[in-house]
Amino acid sequence: MKVLIVGSGGREHAIAWKVSQSPKVDKIYCAPGNAGIGQVADCVDIGAMEIDRLVAFAKEQAIDLTIVGMDDPLVAGIVDAFEAEGLRVFGPRKNAAILEGSKAFSKELMKKYQIPTAAYETFTNPEEAVAYLEKTSYPIVLKADGLALGKGVLICETKEDAKEGVKTLMLDKQFGSAGDTIVIEEFMTGREVSVLAFSDGKTIQCMTSAQDHKRAKDGDQGLNTGGMGTFSPSPFYTDEVKAFCERYVYQATIDAMAKEGRPFIGVLFTGLMLTKDGPKVLEYNARFGDPEAQVVLPRMKNDLIDVVEACIDGKLDQIQLQFEDNAAVCVVLASKGYPEHYEKGIPIQGFENFEGKEGYYCFHAGTKREGEQIVTNGGRVLGITAKGKDLKEARENAYQATEWITFANKYMRTDIGKAIEDKETEGTVYHV
Ligand code: AMP
Ligand code: GLY
Repeated sequence: MKVLIVGSGGREHAIAWKVSQSPKVDKIYCAPGNAGIGQVADCVDIGAMEIDRLVAFAKEQAIDLTIVGMDDPLVAGIVDAFEAEGLRVFGPRKNAAILEGSKAFSKELMKKYQIPTAAYETFTNPEEAVAYLEKTSYPIVLKADGLALGKGVLICETKEDAKEGVKTLMLDKQFGSAGDTIVIEEFMTGREVSVLAFSDGKTIQCMTSAQDHKRAKDGDQGLNTGGMGTFSPSPFYTDEVKAFCERYVYQATIDAMAKEGRPFIGVLFTGLMLTKDGPKVLEYNARFGDPEAQVVLPRMKNDLIDVVEACIDGKLDQIQLQFEDNAAVCVVLASKGYPEHYEKGIPIQGFENFEGKEGYYCFHAGTKREGEQIVTNGGRVLGITAKGKDLKEARENAYQATEWITFANKYMRTDIGKAIEDKETEGTVYHV
């Protein structure tokens, strides 16, 4: 079969690699892809938001299955456009991708169906938002309603910061129309966990858990980024927490969406905070996480094509999702200066060191080919993943593998997965 993947980051490389393992697949295309994806797929020069061109390409090439990796095209309705032409495609339709596309929608859904999340208010008027800031307690969290590359969340320590935040989002429109509506929500503390799950609209099956490291610098300092590294599984995601979430969060969300006439078919990514009052939803995404996919997919035993087809055909209940009983760590190699200013076009050396190394992966995020040379082409450049029998070993292996790659402005966090060392200090227990 012929498969098309839409997107160009480390997540799409992980998806393309996993798809390439399927005996059912003869040919993989990726639009637009990157230098690493080009090793397992034919990269097509069509942007992820050029939906009409993607539909035309899929028809022309008789693509049997399209997998959409990125959020923007999903929120814009790429799945509806493919389905309208009778093309098979994996991802939520526009009316379900809104779960990621609008925080006001997702918060209202959670409130209506009693899915645990932070208390909140929604505002479309900046004056009303500022009036609310007078009577609330601090810290407080401001969120742009729409997509903002993961950067539309402001944690404000004081009233002054929060007022400034309202200005940034609603008046200065730093994230454009994404800030026309904002959500102001209670600040929560606790350990964060990302759980990705497949859904066919009725049944939901969770993948193994992961934890992202969003801040740019060690010790969770610095600016928020797209993600500087991940580990899987999360030792904080205990069986009790999992059982609670399966019942009161994931299945409840899928049932709620079905009831609203918005069946969610695709990958539901739930960002959770494990607070002392129980797990609460931080956010939903409507696709695989990046870089969560880079640690979750290498541990997945199933053929991804089987699972994706079962979701599309409404037969996910017939799939036994299985993961290896080990661990994986992904360390992102970024360009120095990310997420602000950084140079691109810098030659990268050392890819050959990964050849023939079982359990080690070099997923490309921001790279491109210039003649024979692969050069940096983004803030996040590569995701170096390694597996190990446990998190400690996976972490050692991943950091060792980061040394196999060199480029002039290489930057990484040195504490990805270090949190596992203080897991004894956590002790939250939940009763289902
Ligand atoms: P989001 O895009 O909603 O996941 O938010 C990005 C990051 O902001 C999360 O990963 C959290 O670290 C933080 N965050 C979001 N909402 C809250 C909240 N209500 N309380 C504390 N931190 C939050
Ligand atoms: N790693 C967070 C995300 O994919 O949104």
